[in-house]
Amino acid sequence: MDTEIIILAAGQGTRMHSDKPKVLHELGGRPMLAHVIATAQRLQSSHIHVVYGHGGEHVQDQLGHLGVDWIEQPEQLGTGHAVQQAMPAVAQDSIALVLYGDVPLIRKETLDNLIKTVDDQHMGVLTTILSEPDGYGRIVRNAQDQVLRIVEHKDASEQDRAINEINTGILAVQAKQLHQWLDRLQNDNAQGEYYLTDIIEMAVDDGVTVVATVTDDEIEVTGINDKIQLQMMERSYQMRQAQELMRKGVTLADASRFDLRGSCEAGKDVRIDVNVVMEGRVELGDRVSIGPNVVLKNVAIGDDVQVFANSVLEDAKIGAGSRIGPFARVRPETVLSENTHIGNFVEIKKSTIGAGSKINHLSYIGDAEIGKQVNIGAGTITCNYDGAYKYKTIIGDNAFIGSDSQLVAPVTIGKGATIGAGSTISRDTPEGELTLSRSKQQTIKNWQRPQKKK
Ligand code: UD1
Ligand code: CA
Repeated sequence: MDTEIIILAAGQGTRMHSDKPKVLHELGGRPMLAHVIATAQRLQSSHIHVVYGHGGEHVQDQLGHLGVDWIEQPEQLGTGHAVQQAMPAVAQDSIALVLYGDVPLIRKETLDNLIKTVDDQHMGVLTTILSEPDGYGRIVRNAQDQVLRIVEHKDASEQDRAINEINTGILAVQAKQLHQWLDRLQNDNAQGEYYLTDIIEMAVDDGVTVVATVTDDEIEVTGINDKIQLQMMERSYQMRQAQELMRKGVTLADASRFDLRGSCEAGKDVRIDVNVVMEGRVELGDRVSIGPNVVLKNVAIGDDVQVFANSVLEDAKIGAGSRIGPFARVRPETVLSENTHIGNFVEIKKSTIGAGSKINHLSYIGDAEIGKQVNIGAGTITCNYDGAYKYKTIIGDNAFIGSDSQLVAPVTIGKGATIGAGSTISRDTPEGELTLSRSKQQTIKNWQRPQKKK
């Protein structure tokens, strides 16, 4: 039987104190609802229906491309009412699986097991045991341990409140049964809401056995209601990702000081020091070493590359065997070939650097094409911008640029050319020759430095 997934995401999330709809707050750099949708997409299902309410335009703006079915719940009258909105779009002959948009770390395997419990005579609810169950719906069982009903905290008696088994909110049931039960929901309860949880008692009355799948992974069923829970879940999520990388062989100096907001593909014997932040898509070759406090965003790094402390690399390709940093900044559209050296306080933007070339100290290289085996001396600057337009600097193979030179683009430095230190180069220079622009050194005799008057 097909599964139809209904994700409830209409809640406002008042406790986030934010203009942003709750389900758009990010976990690992992705909206929490996107996590739930991604997990839903890994299940065998025919449709994914997302019930939205507050800030629906923003939610669809950001997640519209994910190919799910959007259903509006204009007024939030309760979880039962929310599911009801989706029912017209749900095939009768299917299993309906209800998920929450603010419970982002639910695992696929758990949901697979929950769905397996469902047939004509059985429905499934996902529960967990909490030492502090306050606020949650409680699972009420009879002496034979059979589930009888769910009672919401606000409607619960003293005796019910002592129950530690709680409703996670996630359930699976045959759609045709769900349909009938939803039609019978009333809102005569402490919150004046249509509770989805009331269908449990109806199921029992109709002779359907309610199978509770109890998970002991508190994290996967934790909902996010405020910024404290958001950061707690962020750390749990990061730990999950760190452990996944370590399981694949990556060495992490400290799993609790690692942040991956995207994806990381790593080769063999990769080492990652503390406080590394990765964003977007990061690829690391074999034996790559990433130093402390490094930020990597959308970068592909070749084998045997060493990135030293406090470097920031974004939208770049780094050739095998290169050495970057410490304190290097590699900006978008940069391509470094093999065995390049980019040293401290060097900024590179939209440039290609040939194999074996070195830019070791205090430079700005922008809009440049640099050949192989080039040495760029300390303090060299490409003057790529005239205030209105940007121009290219082209440097041939084996050129040597003396320290503290300015290359005023557009300009081409010939192959094997040498530029004398301290030069301002504004015209193309010939291959293989020394070019410099400097006034002759002179000494002014008996020159006095100004003195302060007493
Ligand atoms: C619900 C359950 C409770 C369970 C708890 C787990 C009910 C009646 N209660 O309580 O048994 O222990 O979750 O966290 O189901 N939503 C809508 N539209 C609405 C109301 C809610 O889309 O009209 C969505 C919310 O965005 C949220 C989810 O449904 O994602 C749960 O809503 P929430 O108000 O947090 O439910 P609780 O009262 O916490
Ligand atoms: Ca809740």
